[in-house]
Amino acid sequence: MSGSALDLAWNRLAAHRATLEAVHMRDQFAADPDRFQRFSLRLGDLLLDYSKHRITAGTMALLVDLAGAAGVEARRDAMFAGERINVTEDRAALHVALRNRSGRPILVDGQDVMPEVDATLARVGAFAEAVRSGTIAGARGDRFTDVVNLGIGGSDLGPAMAVAALCSYCEGVNAHFVSNVHSAHLRDTLAGLAPERTLFIVASKTFTTLETMTNARSARDWLVGALGEGAVPSHFAAVSSNPARAAGFGIPGDRVFGFRDWVGGRYSVWSAIGLPLAIAIGFDRFREFLAGGHEMDEHFRTAPLGRNMPVIMALLGLWYRDVWGCATHGLMPYDQRLARFPAHIQQLDMESNGKRVRLDGSPVDRATAPVIWGEPGSNGQHAFFQLLHQGTEVVPCDFLLAAEPDVDLGPHQAILASNCFGQSEALMRGRTEAEARRAMEAEGLAPAEIDRLAPHRVFPGNRPSSTLLYRRLDPATLGRLVALYEHKVFVQGAVWGIDSFDQWGVELGKERASALLPAIGGSTPPADTDCSTAGLLAAYRALRRE
Ligand code: F6P
Repeated sequence: MSGSALDLAWNRLAAHRATLEAVHMRDQFAADPDRFQRFSLRLGDLLLDYSKHRITAGTMALLVDLAGAAGVEARRDAMFAGERINVTEDRAALHVALRNRSGRPILVDGQDVMPEVDATLARVGAFAEAVRSGTIAGARGDRFTDVVNLGIGGSDLGPAMAVAALCSYCEGVNAHFVSNVHSAHLRDTLAGLAPERTLFIVASKTFTTLETMTNARSARDWLVGALGEGAVPSHFAAVSSNPARAAGFGIPGDRVFGFRDWVGGRYSVWSAIGLPLAIAIGFDRFREFLAGGHEMDEHFRTAPLGRNMPVIMALLGLWYRDVWGCATHGLMPYDQRLARFPAHIQQLDMESNGKRVRLDGSPVDRATAPVIWGEPGSNGQHAFFQLLHQGTEVVPCDFLLAAEPDVDLGPHQAILASNCFGQSEALMRGRTEAEARRAMEAEGLAPAEIDRLAPHRVFPGNRPSSTLLYRRLDPATLGRLVALYEHKVFVQGAVWGIDSFDQWGVELGKERASALLPAIGGSTPPADTDCSTAGLLAAYRALRRE
């Protein structure tokens, strides 16, 4: 990454923006009937349409130059080669190894990690299938009907999202996910479950996360209360990179599934953290999920930057974040079963790139990760699309849609698809005042009323979005989509020159929480407690007494 070439690339993009300020996408589409073909990419049945963006071919060339100047390809190759690119923790970042189906070795410190990856995957598969078949059963011999994953962050969001997304493929054992230490989360989940038919998975890379350990202890109490202490080994499994701590909880070694420290939490759904997914959809489908991720890896690893789906998505994100100053990015999956997809990508993106210093510790000189948010369509249209269309903030959005729904209810799919396409078109086209006036004349409004309402009914348009279209939301497609966003995040971090694989920013809040925990119970707060926190503690205790 050469500083002068990188600065030059950014400066060219900033200058290039000026040439587009007065250009409206509707005019670009009118002038170029091939715009869709020009600005779309395919990988199998997965289509990325990025034609509804404020770009020209020249824009894309400058963005690709930016990636080149930032050394994206070299950093990508370093990741795939197992180099310690997570410099602050001196670790590799090798989630791609977890889904590596190429047969190629992947070396960390000169040692091929694939034999261990494959062995763990085989153990996960065997355990999942044994639970599904009843070969592994409860302490009293009952077949498990429910598996409860106790984890948070990357030990929850990925598998929970995937189980929801792939519920058409879920059969036999019901998967539940408890993450919040708020006691209702565990209580509400266990309320309808039978202890003798419930398996718990304690999922924690560190096996120290307070919320997860608290939930695990309470779940253990629930089980012991029903079946006795002797039932624990039959009703618990653990996923952790700290097997010694898992054993300390009373979980037998053959039910502890490990993963290495070069798997980041937010990248761990592909590891044994995916055990609840494998139990829910079966090992064969889980391997299809892995294969989809691997297919995207090979595309990312080999496709030229300008024809590389994650690279294009990353560069467009940089264009809006750092040249147009867009503070947020919206994810709108037009699929109710992807309701948790934005939440997973939130952690993936914001915990990876929500950084303020570069790899060498120097402060970044431009904005890094945007706020990632989103909700399924078409619901968002009835909640926040007002802002997307007529707000003062421009929010680049990703629309996601399957052509073939898992559940086909007559007119529903056509209405969903027309809304997905119609919304992205409306964001792009907008509505001029003349068009607004014509519409109100057609409604029969009086001229004075038309004059009064016209400013309110103009849509500026020129609001960018990408659309990801695919045949079905099957395991392989979900794998491709998740890996696509992982590599998008990677490319953006590489251009910003930050460490996308550590997360020091989560420590301070935890430290303060631990320091205040005794005070919640009535002890004197720490001496350095500010008056707001002290006031809240006092008010909290007063409310608890009333
Ligand atoms: O606190 C943030 C975090 O460390 C995430 O990075 C991680 O996914 C989550 O907490 C859970 O961590 P663990 O899997 O170690 O319990």
